[in-house]
Amino acid sequence: MLTMLNIKKIFNQGTPDERIVFNDFSLQVEKGEFITLVGGNGSGKSTLFNLISGILLPDSGNITLNDLDITTMLEHKRAHMIGRIFQDPLKGTAPHMTVEENLSIAYMRSTKRSLFSRISKKDKVYLQERVAQLGLGLEDRMQAQVGLLSGGQRQAMTMSMATITTPKLLLLDEHTAALDPVSAEKVMNLTRKIVSELGITTIMITHNISSAIETGNRIIMLDSGRIVVDIKGEKRDKLTKQELLNCFSESSEKEFDSEQILQ
Ligand SMILES: Nc1ncnc2c1ncn2[C@@H]1O[C@H](COP(=O)(O)OP(=O)(O)O)[C@@H](O)[C@H]1O
Ligand SMILES: [Mg+2]
Repeated sequence: MLTMLNIKKIFNQGTPDERIVFNDFSLQVEKGEFITLVGGNGSGKSTLFNLISGILLPDSGNITLNDLDITTMLEHKRAHMIGRIFQDPLKGTAPHMTVEENLSIAYMRSTKRSLFSRISKKDKVYLQERVAQLGLGLEDRMQAQVGLLSGGQRQAMTMSMATITTPKLLLLDEHTAALDPVSAEKVMNLTRKIVSELGITTIMITHNISSAIETGNRIIMLDSGRIVVDIKGEKRDKLTKQELLNCFSESSEKEFDSEQILQ
């Protein structure tokens, strides 16, 4: 489905600030997998997403999505195949536009229609149904300005917009980290629901070991650009927090940052 092969990524090569983030990094993601990706600050999680979504190009190596070589494909050309949600709830939606306008834009974009073409009555009904599935009552607030919604509501909307037509791959970059605990849990539940209903192949970055274990069907831990833990299948289903942390310290020969364990 997604294959990253022998990826090398170096920032500021040849300068005193040189930083080798990935050196011969490979990852194979199967269709329908829901990977939770855990790793300390600076371990390369966001860079990995930037490489997959085309914000950054690798120095060497190959990336293919459904057998299509996307290694050097421009970001906007792969955007309709790859959905991405960031930590900041303000990033995914336009505050001065209404709920309906935001959804319409996402819909037009994902169906590759011109932004200037009119949205039909039927489309509007479809968008209202989609937003109703979020269970937040936003279907009755289609004309409300998005800037008036809470962070959790906005992030839920972003989730709906990113999956309005099913992406081939969904990338979630700590998309609940900026929310209060109650909203974070709501958005996390919504994420599980949407991903499992639509069967979307997903990679979710999280700092939170508990949500990493409670979500998805494969868990990967990254340390200095290396995969040090990769567990799926039956072993993943039964995995406890302690077992996971033991696996991490065995492979990386250090403890996982204790501040992050508390979460
Ligand atoms: N655009 C960039 N220029 C230079 N260094 C960068 C850039 N992006 C990331 N890095 C460096 O690459 C390493 C990995 O960063 P990142 O992928 O953001 O880590 P994570 O998301 O796991 O916290 C860090 O050392 C970071 O400072
Ligand atoms: Mg990051």
